[in-house]
Amino acid sequence: MSSKEAGRIIFGLPGNEEFALRVAKEGGWEFGTLETRRFPDGESYVRLQSDVSHKEVALVCTLSRPDSQFLTLIFTADAARNLGAASVTLVAPYLSYMRQDRRFNAGEAITSRTFATQISSTFDRLITVDPHLHRYPNLSAIYTCDAIVLHAAPLIGEWLATEVPHPLVIGPDEESEQWVAVVAAKAKAPHVVLRKTRYGDRRVELVVPDLSRWRDRKPVLVDDIASSGRTLIEASKLIQEQGLARPVCAVVHPLFAGESFAELKEATDFIASTDAVPHVSNRISLVRLVAGALRGDAQPEAIRG
Ligand code: R5P
Repeated sequence: MSSKEAGRIIFGLPGNEEFALRVAKEGGWEFGTLETRRFPDGESYVRLQSDVSHKEVALVCTLSRPDSQFLTLIFTADAARNLGAASVTLVAPYLSYMRQDRRFNAGEAITSRTFATQISSTFDRLITVDPHLHRYPNLSAIYTCDAIVLHAAPLIGEWLATEVPHPLVIGPDEESEQWVAVVAAKAKAPHVVLRKTRYGDRRVELVVPDLSRWRDRKPVLVDDIASSGRTLIEASKLIQEQGLARPVCAVVHPLFAGESFAELKEATDFIASTDAVPHVSNRISLVRLVAGALRGDAQPEAIRG
């Protein structure tokens, strides 16, 4: 361990303790003790029970429930800085508020920008996995802190290569081509991409090309996010209508709102996800990838300007 690494300490925010502990073990770093609770009126209490002075602090907090997590996270980061941390990094395997990236209707808040401003003014560095970059070319378009973007596709491809014989990798929309192509290459499988139009939070329409030549293959739907589950459920229905088998689903960020996980299970053969968000479907671990980024294996995006 280098002298620099000897000064690193990892904390897990509520719900992230297990992932944070595994990252700390992977890197051989100190795992910090953090006490959090709510006062009777609902306000957040935060106490760092481990010494952080002159240390590189990493707070692990996947932002799958950002509204209830945010203040505790900001308070912890600010306390670490006040207590003398050399730097404060946010490890958010899932980065929230990336989808409201423009004003779709008059008067709407562009929350991706506001959220980025808050995070950038609190942390020195952000490490995340496959943020939903649709209309922004990269995170540096809105984040002014160092941003390290990791990709789960190679790990999903490796998982697929060992777990699913003779697959056909399917992306549910054109955006998914970027990671579907990598997954397919790793798994040495063909891939196709559907076309999607979204009409509302829970209403999507998909156009599926002719898949008849792939009927002997096991379809594997790969998406970055499963939220309402409608995208994957609709894709599953349409590919089965073309005579393909019930698909496997591989998801980077298993958000699974409401009953969507049960509904998707009903509509598909098997669901695997990464541990970017803790979920019963987690099969693919990002711990080594994240530990590598903390160690300095991945370079930050160029800072804007
Ligand atoms: C959207 O473009 C994303 O890549 C996902 O397809 C989308 O977020 C999935 O959302 P839902 O599960 O609500 O259909």
